[in-house]
Amino acid sequence: MFQLRPAQASDAGFLAEVVLAATRAQGRLAEGIDEVEWRAGFVAWSHESVDDPATDLYVVEVDDRPAGRLRVSRTPEVVELNGIQLHPDVQNRGIGTAIITALQEEATRRNVPLQLSVERDNPNARRLYHRLGFVKVGEEGAEDVLRWTKGVEQNRLWDADVAAGYDTPDTGMFAADVIGPTVNRLKELAAGGRALEFAIGTGRVAVPLAEHGVPVSGIELSTAMLDQLRTKNDTIPVAVGDMATTRAPGEFTLVYLVYNTISNLLTQEEQVACFRNAARHLSPGGRFVIELWVPELRRLPPGVPATVGIAEPGYILLDTYDVLRQHVVSHHFHFGEGTAAQLGRTPHRYIWPAELDLMAQLAGFTLESRHADWSGTPFTADSTSHVSVYRLT
Ligand SMILES: C[S@@+](CC[C@H](N)C(=O)[O-])C[C@H]1O[C@@H](n2cnc3c(N)ncnc32)[C@H](O)[C@@H]1O
Repeated sequence: MFQLRPAQASDAGFLAEVVLAATRAQGRLAEGIDEVEWRAGFVAWSHESVDDPATDLYVVEVDDRPAGRLRVSRTPEVVELNGIQLHPDVQNRGIGTAIITALQEEATRRNVPLQLSVERDNPNARRLYHRLGFVKVGEEGAEDVLRWTKGVEQNRLWDADVAAGYDTPDTGMFAADVIGPTVNRLKELAAGGRALEFAIGTGRVAVPLAEHGVPVSGIELSTAMLDQLRTKNDTIPVAVGDMATTRAPGEFTLVYLVYNTISNLLTQEEQVACFRNAARHLSPGGRFVIELWVPELRRLPPGVPATVGIAEPGYILLDTYDVLRQHVVSHHFHFGEGTAAQLGRTPHRYIWPAELDLMAQLAGFTLESRHADWSGTPFTADSTSHVSVYRLT
């Protein structure tokens, strides 16, 4: 879609023109500006930037032709987007979004935040950054400072230790009677096409699905989980990024998001964005499959903020609820022979099936089927989980 080429001094004239054109197209060129003087100043500054080791200046090329300017600074603590301008001819083609998600991938791989500043009077850019998950962290003059930290957060939540202990070959979620029906049903729903797993993790489902002949790709934010996947499979293409926003190359007949993972997105807005992102990866009539637990709100008497989900030798699962924000924190207590226990906690936003259907509707899907599991057990009022299949209409 685009290429980045390090800028040279001879590009300075083009870079000045592209900034002028982009700013003019947005109606944000200062009135009465002396363009000749401005151009000369900008060219001189670009020459300095080309030689500045603290910053990287690029020409954005689209269809092998110069079409934009990008300036990025990298330190051990942060990746900073200092400026991005695209010529009006190539705007509204998703190129800006693709460049920013590529920088998000870089920041995630380096385990640092991605930061930028945006003028407060630039609503289009602010909307884009908000949609891509940036949060305001400060102000500098007429600009807001925005930061994206989701990669760092997921790398912390799903770190190397968690990733190393995630796979439990042949038992629990890796048991043949769990994986078998999951893979069979997903293969059937892919209907001979390509599948994309959102939050592919260590490939618990994707690896056996690929072994059953379905071409599978993935999106994943934790590089530690991805490293673990790579110990088992080095061919499944995976885009490092947020499943609510990242575009994986290709078109698919099936997108799937299993093991309750849509609840890892902590706002309704992000969950709706996730549906929309599934829709844009699908060919017409394609399917989005979600496996999700039914919130156990009926087990919460008034005044009791927690439920015990599992209490078995060596493991207790305690869920604490914030019913106003629709948040639940799962507390996983693991213990052995002695008195000491290890606690791991994961935050979720829970979703009632009806709300999930409405999110699907907002993204252009209709519910094709809902079962209590992957084997087609009917979904009833007492079901604790569901496999919902949405079809792009
Ligand atoms: C419970 S694991 C599920 C992994 C795999 N799908 C499976 O079924 O075993 C949750 C995974 O979701 C990933 N994840 C969480 N939020 C994400 C996001 N916004 N975008 C991409 N991946 C995300 C985590 O890094 C983790 O690998």
